[in-house]
Amino acid sequence: MPDPATGMLPGETPAPAVPHPSGPLPTRLLPDSAGVSAEGRLTLAGVDVVELADEVGTPVFVYDEEHLRARCREAREAFGSRVAYASKAFLCKAMARLAYEEGCCIDVATGGEMAVALAAGVPAERLVLHGNNKSVEEIEAAVSAGVGRIVVDSFGEIDRLASLHAGGAAGAALPSVLVRVTPGIEAHTHEYVMTGQDDSKFGFGLASGAAAEAVERLTRPGSGARLVGIHAHIGSQIFSLESFDRELSVLGPFFAGLGLEELCVGGGLGVAYVGGEEAPTISQWAGAVRQAARAAGIGDHIVLSAEPGRAVAAAAALTCYRVGTVKELPGLRTYVSVDGGMSDNPRPVLYGSGYEAFLPREVLAQRPRTVTVVGKHCESGDLLVRDAAVPSDLAVGDILATPVTGAYGHSMASNYNKVPRPPVVFVADGAWRVVVRRETYADLMALDQ
Ligand code: LLP
Repeated sequence: MPDPATGMLPGETPAPAVPHPSGPLPTRLLPDSAGVSAEGRLTLAGVDVVELADEVGTPVFVYDEEHLRARCREAREAFGSRVAYASKAFLCKAMARLAYEEGCCIDVATGGEMAVALAAGVPAERLVLHGNNKSVEEIEAAVSAGVGRIVVDSFGEIDRLASLHAGGAAGAALPSVLVRVTPGIEAHTHEYVMTGQDDSKFGFGLASGAAAEAVERLTRPGSGARLVGIHAHIGSQIFSLESFDRELSVLGPFFAGLGLEELCVGGGLGVAYVGGEEAPTISQWAGAVRQAARAAGIGDHIVLSAEPGRAVAAAAALTCYRVGTVKELPGLRTYVSVDGGMSDNPRPVLYGSGYEAFLPREVLAQRPRTVTVVGKHCESGDLLVRDAAVPSDLAVGDILATPVTGAYGHSMASNYNKVPRPPVVFVADGAWRVVVRRETYADLMALDQ
């Protein structure tokens, strides 16, 4: 366990201000319950990670359950009872249940995510349905289940709500809805995960007047919905709280005149993936949002909500792989091939995202060797860590781990090359349990007719 005063693990020396590229893994990238055994091996909540990986097999996503719970509690305390965990970051029944138990609503962006959350026993009233292309079936399912909030994204959807209502198919209760607004600001993040700019497939533009028109149409009698608030989401993996300042300064004047009860600022808080990166905490984010809201004329009686995904789940997990092949190309590079790859973590390929790598058998070892960690897929782009610092004695057969893989890893996993998706293990109180089992070859053929 880290020392509560310094945050350091037993045996760890203070990190230099700028981490040395060949130094040990910065342990603040590890989940909260990480520790180091007497033999120098990684433990999570008292469980030896190498032993776990040997037993469950690799690759495997290993989550620190208490870390997930602590972040959900922090979000709930910071933003209040309407805060939603964005389940696209990582979802399975155990996760939906956990977020609900810790007081969060669940943001579901599709009928599939909604089905998982409902199957987990989360009451429909605690769900928020998103999506820029919700089908009639998805809207109907949400309304008849009694989903707590629907975030309306297009005029077509407003029409669908009205005709559902007129047709009486959805029953008498009107769904509570928020209008998703694109505030016309560009957050400092990767282009693919930016969503607040005018040119976006999401929401109603503020500058064009579309947002005002959506509000007007939803407040007409017979709209089939009860408009309760405004929603905006400006992007993901945002480090600078100033982006949220700008979001609120644009939304404030629009929201102020509407007399609505809720303003949701979306998700998007960034996390540190590699040494040298610093991200605000969820509480700091909430503090900045509240302050910016006040400055934008939004009174304290307004429910300010948010939808963190990555900030809850990313640092809670690490992925363990087994090293299968080491190929040294003299004068070029050393390729270390592991038994997963872009099918369990497509982020390096999609966004050029960086990760650290380390050996759980010697967590605090120096990492003087630079290698390229690649997967087992049939393409050169199948890269996990381009220039990974690893210990000099890394060898075939080792368990190699990448930290901060709890968000948008398992949830974006694929079966490319018919590679079965890895299992998900939760670790807590000295014990572990499989919450999603490993896919089998039979699973891969289950849908074939
Ligand atoms: N709310 C809405 C409406 C969103 O679209 C998203 C993320 C979130 C909340 C949660 O954002 P977070 O707190 O996790 O940043 N696959 C990309 C990230 C895509 C994010 C999509 N929307 C990645 O791996 O970086």
